[in-house]
Amino acid sequence: MKISIIGSGRVGSSVGLNCCLRKLGDVLLLDIVKGLPQGESLDISHQLAEQGNDCHVRGSNEYADMKNSDFIVVTNPLDPLTHLALKTLRSDKQKVMGMGGMLDLSRFKEHISTLTGMSRRSIQALVIGEHGENMLPLIRFSTISGIPLTAFINNDEAHYLVSKTQSIAAEVINLKGATVYAPGNAVSAMIEAISENTRAIMPVSALLEGEYGYSDVCIGIPCILGSNGIEKVVELELNQEEGEVFKSGVDNIKSAINNLQL
Ligand SMILES: NC(=O)c1ccc[n+]([C@@H]2O[C@H](COP(=O)([O-])OP(=O)(O)OC[C@H]3O[C@@H](n4cnc5c(N)ncnc54)[C@H](O)[C@@H]3O)[C@@H](O)[C@H]2O)c1
Repeated sequence: MKISIIGSGRVGSSVGLNCCLRKLGDVLLLDIVKGLPQGESLDISHQLAEQGNDCHVRGSNEYADMKNSDFIVVTNPLDPLTHLALKTLRSDKQKVMGMGGMLDLSRFKEHISTLTGMSRRSIQALVIGEHGENMLPLIRFSTISGIPLTAFINNDEAHYLVSKTQSIAAEVINLKGATVYAPGNAVSAMIEAISENTRAIMPVSALLEGEYGYSDVCIGIPCILGSNGIEKVVELELNQEEGEVFKSGVDNIKSAINNLQL
C-alpha cells in the first residue's frame, strides 16, 4: 500500500513515521519546500533500518507522485476544511474524512487514566463534535473495562475531565509551539483501520446527511472505518446537554464553511 502525505512538516513527518512503525505500507512525503520531504524521508529511513523495518519512505515535491491516493484531512480548521476538500474533490463522501476526534480522544483517555489511576489499556472512551471549542468528550459513553466511567468518578471530576480535554491542546501549543506526536499517531490509527479493513469504530469528521439531525456539515461522529473508508456512521442518542454542545459545534462549523465560500 502507498500512503501519501501532503505536507512534511511536524505533523506530516510524524504521520509518516507512525505509519512505518505500524508497518502499514510505503510512505510518500510531499511538500512544496524543496529538500524537506527528502530530508525527512532519509531521517525516518535511518531509524527504520536499525529497527529492521522494510517500509520504504520517499520524499517528493511533485503532486503527480501521489496519484491514486485517498485523503484524510488534518489541516485546521479541521471540520470546515474537510467539508471544503469533499466539495472541491467532488469525491464519494465515504472517502474524504478529517482527523480531529481521534486526537481529542487520546487526550481524554490520558486524563481519565491520570485521574483514576487505571491503566490506559483499560479505557474505552469517545469524543465527538467540533474539533475545537465545542468538542464533546462523552462521559456517558466511556468505560473502564466495560464498567461505566461514572462508577469511578463524581460530577466535579466529570466536569474536570471534560474541560481539561477541551483546553489541553492550547496548553501544549503554549509550551512547545505545536502538537506533533499524538496527531501523527492518531492519523496513522485511522489509516490502519482503512488499510487493514479492521472496521474499528473511531471518531471521524464526516459529512452529515440527516444523521444527528443535521446536513451539509462535516463534524466528528463515531464511524466504522474499513477498506471503503467510512463504512457506516454510528448514530448515538445524545441527551439535551450533549445535544446543545453538538449543535453549537455544528453552528460554528457552518459559519466557517460559509466564510470559506465568500
Ligand atoms: N486535526 C488535528 O487534530 C491537528 C493536530 C495538529 C495539527 N493540525 C494542523 O495540521 C497542520 C500542519 O501542522 P504542522 O505543525 O505540521 O505545520 P508545519 O508548518 O510544521 O508543516 C506544514 C507543512 O506543509 C507544507 N505545505 C504548505 N502548503 C503546502 C502545499 N500546498 N503542498 C504541500 N505542502 C505544503 C509546508 O511547507 C510545511 O512543511 C496545521 O494546519 C495544524 O493546525 C491538526
